[in-house]
Amino acid sequence: MSKYIDTKWRRFIKDMPHHQIPFSKRNWGNPNHSLCSYQGKLKPAIAYHLVKVFVPKAGVVFDPFAGAGTIPFEGALNGITAYGMDLSPLAYYIASPKLHKNNVESCVDYIEKLSNFIASVEIPSEYIKANKDFGFNKTIKEYYHQDTFMEVLKARLFFQQNPPKTSEEKLVLASLLHILHGNRPYALSRKSHPIVPYAPSGDYIYKNLVEKLKIKTIKAATVQLPDCFVEGDIMLGDSTKVWPDNIHDIDAIITSPPFYDSTRFYLINWIRLWFLGWNYEDFETESLSFVDEKQKTDFTVYDTIFEQAKERLKTNGYFVLHLGKSDKCNMGEVLRQKGKHWFKKAKLYDENVTDCESFGIRDIGRVTSHQYLILE
Ligand SMILES: C[S@@+](CC[C@H](N)C(=O)[O-])C[C@H]1O[C@@H](n2cnc3c(N)ncnc32)[C@H](O)[C@@H]1O
Repeated sequence: MSKYIDTKWRRFIKDMPHHQIPFSKRNWGNPNHSLCSYQGKLKPAIAYHLVKVFVPKAGVVFDPFAGAGTIPFEGALNGITAYGMDLSPLAYYIASPKLHKNNVESCVDYIEKLSNFIASVEIPSEYIKANKDFGFNKTIKEYYHQDTFMEVLKARLFFQQNPPKTSEEKLVLASLLHILHGNRPYALSRKSHPIVPYAPSGDYIYKNLVEKLKIKTIKAATVQLPDCFVEGDIMLGDSTKVWPDNIHDIDAIITSPPFYDSTRFYLINWIRLWFLGWNYEDFETESLSFVDEKQKTDFTVYDTIFEQAKERLKTNGYFVLHLGKSDKCNMGEVLRQKGKHWFKKAKLYDENVTDCESFGIRDIGRVTSHQYLILE
């Protein structure tokens, strides 16, 4: 580690600044970090500090498990060219618009198109039949007032027929994904939870989809971005396969892959994935390609990731992994041993989190430490 980076890293480990004011505040960071709730989202303050320590000014960062885009977004907000990749269409649509400056009028035009569609389309009865009883803990229609449910169905059909292409269109979709369920007035559903679609409770109250969507989208599109903001890119793809050609000469790869015993992510995200077009078969087959599932057998799934990380980093670049240690698996140690095949140095740091507030649903009752694995 260069002396400069070593000093910054030691300070991070000693001070744990993300546990100190202002970084420890629940809402620290750009409001668009909360564009859409996402299971396993990293604390923006951790992403901020990792970027500050390991990426030089105006450098390049890549996150192969980008999720809601927290790490690339912190990069972009701090003048760094940031790339991210994720296999989940949900992650892709949430993270992509964060890496762009979005034009509010273009968002409103797209919502207008959706609004006209909802007002005019006669939804095929087979489409209603095929979807109304879809669900895992409860059926989808039990989450909504009947009229709101019809609007949700029509909106789903609209996005299937008009998949978002521009960043603004993706921002509208991400905003709608967010309001699909929750426990606050913004949510279209009956009372549930913003991350996990827990079985709904309370009255069936009509919520106007377009009205709620407009409020959320305009808020997101008009969020203040700093002058140093650099537009980046999120790719939809499997990071255990060959990475795209634009991922080269990277200063740092910073990522937080799925924790070993993370809860079944696709069930946690079922309403949002259903909205994006997944059916029962997708939940069974698509989920098998995710590292969450593959690493349950063993960690060989990381071989291609380490190999490519080594190839695509600059000679003095860093591969930084934020991991979770549990009673069942010392993930950091397993990956440290593996990483030594490709990297000269592999250091592991533990941060006890048993006394901390939960960092996300995946932590509950399982993860005892967060780990930072630094490969160089
Ligand atoms: C712990 S989450 C990352 C959270 C992210 N740091 C954030 O702040 O939102 C792990 C991510 O890995 C993704 N993932 C799992 N298997 C993958 C694969 N084979 N290729 C790309 N992404 C994958 C999941 O979809 C999930 O978004």
